[in-house]
Amino acid sequence: MSEIAKLELNGTTYELPVIEGTENEKGIDIGKLRGSTGGYITIDPGFKNTGSTKSAITYLDGENGILRYRGYSIEELAEKASFLEVAYLVIYGELPTTEQNEVFTHSITNHTLVHEDMKQFFEAYPAKAHPMGVLSSMVCSLSTFYPESLDQDRDEEAIDLTIHRLIAKLPTLAAWSYKNSMRHPVVYPQNDLDYCENFLSMMFAMPTSEYKVDRTVVTALNKLLILHADHEQNCSTSTVRLVGSSHANLYASISAGISALWGPLHGGANQAVIEMLEQIHNDGGDVDKWVAKAKDKSDSFRLMGFGHRVYKNFDPRATIIKVACDDVLDKMGVDDPLLAIAKKLEKVALEDEYFKARNLYPNVDFYSGIIYKAIGIPTEMFTVMFSIGRLPGWIAQWKEMRENNEPIGRPRQIYTGYNVRDYVSIEKR
Ligand code: MLT
Repeated sequence: MSEIAKLELNGTTYELPVIEGTENEKGIDIGKLRGSTGGYITIDPGFKNTGSTKSAITYLDGENGILRYRGYSIEELAEKASFLEVAYLVIYGELPTTEQNEVFTHSITNHTLVHEDMKQFFEAYPAKAHPMGVLSSMVCSLSTFYPESLDQDRDEEAIDLTIHRLIAKLPTLAAWSYKNSMRHPVVYPQNDLDYCENFLSMMFAMPTSEYKVDRTVVTALNKLLILHADHEQNCSTSTVRLVGSSHANLYASISAGISALWGPLHGGANQAVIEMLEQIHNDGGDVDKWVAKAKDKSDSFRLMGFGHRVYKNFDPRATIIKVACDDVLDKMGVDDPLLAIAKKLEKVALEDEYFKARNLYPNVDFYSGIIYKAIGIPTEMFTVMFSIGRLPGWIAQWKEMRENNEPIGRPRQIYTGYNVRDYVSIEKR
């Protein structure tokens, strides 16, 4: 028998249906609350207890550190799959067959070029422009080159073309924004390289030298992108769904997601980790002093990259990427004082009772920041890397919302401003 929740309000009992997901998580359906109670709404700043949708894409169990895409554990996917395979899985619901994989990979590989006219946009940005600002604008600008994408009632094939273009072009736009920030000539995509190799080549090849593919780096990047591919209704994904719910086109919705990801409380956290390490280094590198500051409630300093909003005990993505991080650091033999500080901080967080009791374990942002630094990705590009990884998730969530014919997102509010008052002319104020 399905459960019913009862709400008692001013002597009347209202029955609210309980809905249950395939992993037994439960939600009280308040969809009809306002109508039946004569105006009552629920209030939940930050939507911490509010399910905005029913979704079949990602399952996350924060208490037990479980993350699965379409039923497959991220541990297995990160170990065995390529990023493009995972992108296909997340977006289309099943792992691709050999033939589907070939068609998909071929299509992505053949859409990596961006229109030559867009190169002029890059050149118009100041060299100091943050690459996330450039990326978000460039992705929205793609809609101006493909105006047919504005039509929301297009057939599936046309939508697929937009999806393939986005996945293909995002690394090109990202790498070009980096090259432009140094006023270096851009490196064109190469169709004989795989997705990760091609991105690294566009980032690091020079007119004077080719990029030499390093397998350890490519493997770590492939894993990082997979681990970031989706994370259910986080801030940027909710943004994509909300913008898309107005039937804004996919490019505009993804551009909004990139903007949402930019903030240091979300995707910008990996950049914030390195900035924190620099702060500790510039202060003399005394890790114990900064750990004491982090423990001191009266001190505003907080460690970045530790603990997580939804994972209560550990971040399963961090467990996987820690191993890749150690591999990269060993292989590259990097001698960087910031990485030495990071290693010391990691040890403290894993061993110190204060951090253990508060679940302040190093999270995925901590390790991804360290890996990106070790492989030479500039700090301001870290969140761009996160965007490339998260793109399949944003697309899948947009597609699901569209296929489910979800209504436009329109939250309510409790008004706390003035009651009605008379206009006072300017000379009497
Ligand atoms: C994410 O991967 O989106 C972040 O860990 C943030 C979140 O899920 O809230």
